[in-house]
Parts: sequence; structure tokens; C-alpha cells
Amino acid sequence: MCGIVGAIAQRDVSEILLEGLSRLEYRGYDSAGICTVADGKFHCLKTIEKVQALRTEVAKAGCPGGLGIAHTRWATHGGPSVVNAHPHLTERLAMCHNGIIENYQQLKDKLQAQGYQFKSQTDTEVLLCLIDSLVKTGLDTQEAFRQALLQAEGSYALALIDREHPGDLYGARRHSPLVVGLGIGENFLASDVLALLPVTRRFIYLDDGELVHITRGSVEIFNAQGQRVEKDIAESSLDAESISKGRYRHFMQKEIFEQPQALENTAMGRLSADGIAPDAISGLAQHDLSAVDNIKIVACGTSYHAGLVGKYWLEELTGLATSVEIASEYRYRKAVVKENTLFVTISQSGETADTLACLRLAKEQGYLKTLCICNVHSSSLVRESDLSLLTRAGAEIGVASTKAFVTQLLCLLLLSLYLGEVKGTLSAPRRTQLVESIKKLPALCRDALGQDEAIRQLAQEFAGKHHCLFLGRGIMYPIALEGALKLKEISYIHAEGYAAGELKHGPIALIDKDMPVVVVAPDNALLSKLLSNIEEVRARGGLLYIFSTRSLKLKNDAHSRIFTLPDADELLQPLIFTIPLQLLSYHCAVINGTDVDQPRNLAKAVTVE
Ligand code: F6R
Repeated sequence: MCGIVGAIAQRDVSEILLEGLSRLEYRGYDSAGICTVADGKFHCLKTIEKVQALRTEVAKAGCPGGLGIAHTRWATHGGPSVVNAHPHLTERLAMCHNGIIENYQQLKDKLQAQGYQFKSQTDTEVLLCLIDSLVKTGLDTQEAFRQALLQAEGSYALALIDREHPGDLYGARRHSPLVVGLGIGENFLASDVLALLPVTRRFIYLDDGELVHITRGSVEIFNAQGQRVEKDIAESSLDAESISKGRYRHFMQKEIFEQPQALENTAMGRLSADGIAPDAISGLAQHDLSAVDNIKIVACGTSYHAGLVGKYWLEELTGLATSVEIASEYRYRKAVVKENTLFVTISQSGETADTLACLRLAKEQGYLKTLCICNVHSSSLVRESDLSLLTRAGAEIGVASTKAFVTQLLCLLLLSLYLGEVKGTLSAPRRTQLVESIKKLPALCRDALGQDEAIRQLAQEFAGKHHCLFLGRGIMYPIALEGALKLKEISYIHAEGYAAGELKHGPIALIDKDMPVVVVAPDNALLSKLLSNIEEVRARGGLLYIFSTRSLKLKNDAHSRIFTLPDADELLQPLIFTIPLQLLSYHCAVINGTDVDQPRNLAKAVTVE
């Protein structure tokens, strides 16, 4: 989704801005732009191509000056075009915006009546003109900015500059992330710390409703009422290695192979001999969970699939009734909240607009406590939840979620283990057994990654296909859903995930020799049922690709190809069987020549509804 970078320095800032934009490319975008100030003039360039094309234009035309802002845009209001690309400009001001101004039409009507004419179809230009109109009443830029924001409804992260004041950079946020980067004699603004890692490791995270005034030597933060607020400075532990591809061709590939290490990090220090270490979940000291009787999980996309797996674990290990919902659905229905329900959100970014809106709603709905499972410690979701369980997957740059998903799964398993102990539903020997199994998990995932070459060859058979079915039963059903999501989002092959028992209720009509059917079939209690579903496909001439447990010794035949994975505790199978499906979509995407790390139309952090 959109990315913002801003900088104020003694040196020219265009290189800092362009480097920042390159580092935000992973979020997904369809146009980019930059605007600097030198000699009282704006120097603005925009493109509907990649940041590299903008770099070439800057090299040709020049973008001088020690003050500037830059943006990657993911279209919401108005299609991708140079006119709609940010920064937007008036005679005096330039601004970049992430988010949506919901009342832009009302504001636009008012401004048109005052004589404003608009070049773009964006809501951003409307907000900019509102600020401009207030500057024209004699307010200074900061006050005009603050007053305009009081009239704006919706979400925003903003960077604003005034060509008459080349020593000032302004920012503001509501429901969309924005951080201030602190340099020495220079300061920065960005929607994501990754953009600023080459210039600083010291950050101030803005909260909703805050506005910042930045100069080369100072940073002042104000609340919506215009009062100064003091904020902590945080040191980022991310390093350059975490955002480079290393020896891999794509970030997604690197992140798939990082999963064993990521899982080790997730578990590190959180396990005791027979359960969970006391400080495994942040916030437990203040928020006791012994009264929890029910669990509600809310998330989007891949994180929602993690929640679906979590339901199986939570109900089996804790006996607590658990329901899972898509965030964009939950937030707009009248939910009945049962007494003593724990509200759990799952999100890689911690900034997904629908998930965040559900958390805020849940706080008004009488839930017992809120807990988030998240990969970004500084995110809004972590800051606003009572308790948090960080996934510790490290920076995930590929748009398709891989290591974030498996670490979310492990966090859900840890939560189940903890609640099972608290509720007395898990015996000490079973807890010890589970702890031992979790310790083996990284090695089992390394073993599963050993299928890479076999799956790369298999992907050749998928390359010409247009549709694909994924089948699973029980706890493997959400893994089938996730396999289908991964395949469609990065290889653009249409795929559907089904509970295998549902096959005869409709999808079986699709089976023919051109429809690959991928089955996740570990050795578990539902295997015999699943084998019957496999026969239903075989009998109709379907092409079967079966991922199964090594000890089962299933055999290839004219209709089916078998891929084997290591034997493991049944509860851990979802994590292990996810890996070959990720590899399958990765290799299909490479063969289909898609943009693996930035698939079309997709964004990494979906910060708008
Ligand atoms: C798919 C994918 C998305 C995200 C979804 C939620 O590979 O990454 O479906 O899972 O957009 O994002 P987060 O987890 O950041 O809330």
C-alpha cells in the first residue's frame, strides 16, 4: 500500500527519498513521485512506472534541495496516473498522503465554491487545498494543517512542505502509520522504519491524532488540540541483512527458507520443561486470563487462515469455544459477545485497517481482554491491545505472507498450551510432550524444504493450467485454503480451497483431466475419510498431487503423484504441510513470469478499508 518518505537536511535529500521509496516498494504501488524545495521553488517529478524510472528522471531533470517528500501510491480515489500520483501541489504547498479522506466530496464542494479547481481525482488534493485555503486566511502552515485535520474524516498519514518555509517539514497521522527518524543535524519522516534504515536507527512512533513539526535540529509533536506531547525514542534492531535478498532470487523464496529459523525465534525463551514460560505473552502480569471462557479470533487473508487453524488447537487443547471471523465482516455486523470472551486479532503488519477497526470496536463491546498476535512490535495493534504475542518472524518483504503465517501458527499453539495449562485441560505429561514436539519443529520444516527441487519440477506441470483445487480435512482444511490463496495471489492461477468432505456437494463437477487437485493428506485421524475423497477424484479422471506423510508409503500411479513429508505430532502437521504449498506457488509464479514479490494489485499492509 502507499508509502511516504520525507527528509530535511543540509545536503540534498533526493537520494535519501529515492532510497526510502525503493525500500517501500514491497508494500505494492502503482505510481511514484518526489518533490523537493530549492531556491523557493518546487522540483516535482512523477511516474506511473517503478521507482527506478523515477530515479532515472531525477538523474536527468534534477531534484535539488535539503527539504523534500516522496511517495509510492496504491490507487484508491482516481486510477493510477501521473496526475493522480503524489505529491500533490498547490502554488505554495506540497503533500503526500496514505489513507482515505472519507468526507472529501463535501470538502471539495465547499472549496469549489471558493474558486478552487482540482487537477486530480484524489481525496488528497482536496485536503491539501483545504490546508491551502486556511493558510490564505493568515494562519501559519502548522496551524492551518491542524485545523484542516479537524475537518477531515477518515484515515491518513501525511507529509507536508511549504516552499516559503524550506526549514520545516510537517507530518500527521490517524489510523495509518508514520514514524519520525532522528538523524544528526537532519531528520526524517516515513510510513515504515524500513525506508529510513540507511540513515538512522532512532525513531519516534507517532500516535493517532498527532502532528509533528520537524526541522533539521528539532522535532516537536502535538496532539489534536495543539498541545505539545513528549514521546519516547525507540532504537530499531532491524539491520540491512533483514531487508536484502541475500543469495535468493526473490524475497518470498528467502522468507520461505527462513522459516525454520523464524520458528526457532518464535519459541525462543518462551518454553519451559512442561509448558509456557511466565513472560511468554506480554501483558500477562497485568491481565490475567484465568477467567476466559470463550475465544473470538478476527483477522484478514492469510492471518485469517492462521486463525482457522488456531480454532482446532484451542478447542482441542483448552476446551474453550472458539470462533473465527473475517475482520471486514465482523466490524459491520451486530455481534453477540458472550461473557468472559477473549478477543484475539492476528496480523503480520499490525496496521490492517479492518483488523484494527475490529479491535477498537471490541474494546467497546465488553470483551474480557484483547490479545494480538503480530509481527511488528511498534504497530497500532500491539500498542492498543491488552496483551500481545509477537511472532518474531523478522521483516517480511514479499507481499505473500509465508514466514509470518507459520510463526502466527506457532504463536496460536503457544497460546493454546498456555490456556490449556491455566484452564487445567492439559495434563503435565501432554504439555511436556507438546513442548518436546515444538522443539523439533524447525528441523521438521528444514526436512520439508528438502522437497524444493521436486516441487520445482512439479510446478512445470501447473504452468499451463488455469484452475486448481486444494483439498484438506479437519485442521488441514485451512491449510488447503491457504495453499489456494498463495497460488492465486502470486501465480495468478485461479485456485479454490475446499474441505474434502464438501467435494460431492458441488466442486466435484469441476473434476476433469485438466484440473489439478492438490491434497494435503498427512497421517492423522481423518486419513481414511480423505482417502475416500481422493478415490472420488481418481474415479473421475482428475489429476491428483498428494502431499503425505513419509511413513504412509503411498504410491504414485497414472492419476496421482505423491510427495512425502516428515512424520510429526498431528498437531504440528499444519505447519509442516504449509511449506510445500508455498514452494509450489513460488515456483509456479516464477514459471509464469509474474512479479513474485509484488504481485499485481496487491499491497503488503492494507491500511485502508
Ligand atoms: C496473503 C497476505 C494477505 C494478508 C492480509 C492481512 O499472502 O499476505 O492475505 O495476510 O492482507 O494482512 P496482515 O496480516 O498484515 O493483517
